Amino acid sequence: MTLQFPITQVIQRPGIIDLGWGSPDPALIPVTELADSAATTISHMGPSALAYGAPQGPGPLIEWLSHHVLGEVNRQPQPERIVITAGASQALDLFCTLFVEPGDTVLVESPCFHLARKILLDHSARLAPLTSGVLGPDANELRETLAKLRSKGERCRLMYCIPTFNNPTGRSWPQHCRDAIIEVAAAEELTIIEDDVYRDCAYDEPAYASLFERAPDGIVVRLGSFSKTVGPGLRLGWLQAHPMVVSGITDSGLLDSGGGINHLTAMVMQQFCLAGHFDSHLERMRGALRERRDALVTSLAECLPPGCSWTVPNGGYYVWLELPRGSDVAQFLPIAESHGVSFLPGALFFLSGGGVTAVRLAFSMYSSQELCEASRRLGVAIREWMIHKNSSKSI
Ligand SMILES: Cc1ncc(COP(=O)(O)O)c(C=O)c1O
Repeated sequence: MTLQFPITQVIQRPGIIDLGWGSPDPALIPVTELADSAATTISHMGPSALAYGAPQGPGPLIEWLSHHVLGEVNRQPQPERIVITAGASQALDLFCTLFVEPGDTVLVESPCFHLARKILLDHSARLAPLTSGVLGPDANELRETLAKLRSKGERCRLMYCIPTFNNPTGRSWPQHCRDAIIEVAAAEELTIIEDDVYRDCAYDEPAYASLFERAPDGIVVRLGSFSKTVGPGLRLGWLQAHPMVVSGITDSGLLDSGGGINHLTAMVMQQFCLAGHFDSHLERMRGALRERRDALVTSLAECLPPGCSWTVPNGGYYVWLELPRGSDVAQFLPIAESHGVSFLPGALFFLSGGGVTAVRLAFSMYSSQELCEASRRLGVAIREWMIHKNSSKSI
């Protein structure tokens, strides 16, 4: 039964393995530990967990994050650079509210997360693409694109990108690319919004150092989230930036009026993290994601016809599958769904043009067995579609 007013955003269609959802598997959400943390928080902290929160977020959570987020790098923990938000989406929205003016041009990595683009558009930004391939974006192209935009009188001071375990490709920019892009940004007074929500989902080896860590002070604003590691319904994440950006947010009307964002949930996560649940849960999550990535890429190799290729990510939720040359995924999707498998078409992740032969497969929400079955269905659907395409061409 489909409820008229559903409880969750993800709605399962009976009979379809839907690899379109970039959500964690409900079976992996640490419900027991969260329930314990919530009970402990409310019984021990009582009124202070239910008060207006400190604008930056609860102090001990900020301290924990400053060690956790910056703990692996060469800087001292810098709690003054973090503000708690209702997820990375709200962090981006809040940043835009305060720092983007209608008509500003924002460069967006292409391909990249289509819903971040939607947030930028909510703020009446104009968007311009910066192509990103296997080796990340090209620094010379960035310099030339900026010069072109600015020579036309466009105000372009911001770039949005996902350098680590990208959504949708699963790729990471190599270190030399990171440094080259930072160098251009620093020289051109371009602020980089580094969406880093998949960093903790590294399951082979640690992720490359973030742009935030490598860049001179003030160049990068970094977004983080508990959505991909713990659960998206928490609506809890953070923004990490120069203290002037953080104080711009903490002094904003929204926080002045309402206090710290999502205070009770932040207090519950504080308890969850300080009790050591985050670290033990993350190990389990990484293991499950690794196993699912392996199941998907191995079964794709067994089931798909020649002419298909795909990325093998070292972290994150996504495999980027290229169908044989000349394919049009928009036409293929209904055929795939008639075989009980779905995905997001690659073209969604491009501003204009691109991605027509690609699809994004999210492997986070399904078991290894279901992913093998999804590959089998994809293989059958692609073969059927190719026969159909070739026979209608010859008519
Ligand atoms: C790159 C990227 N950024 C942000 C988000 C949303 O994060 P949050 O749930 O923290 O708002 C997603 C979710 O798919 C994502 O893939």
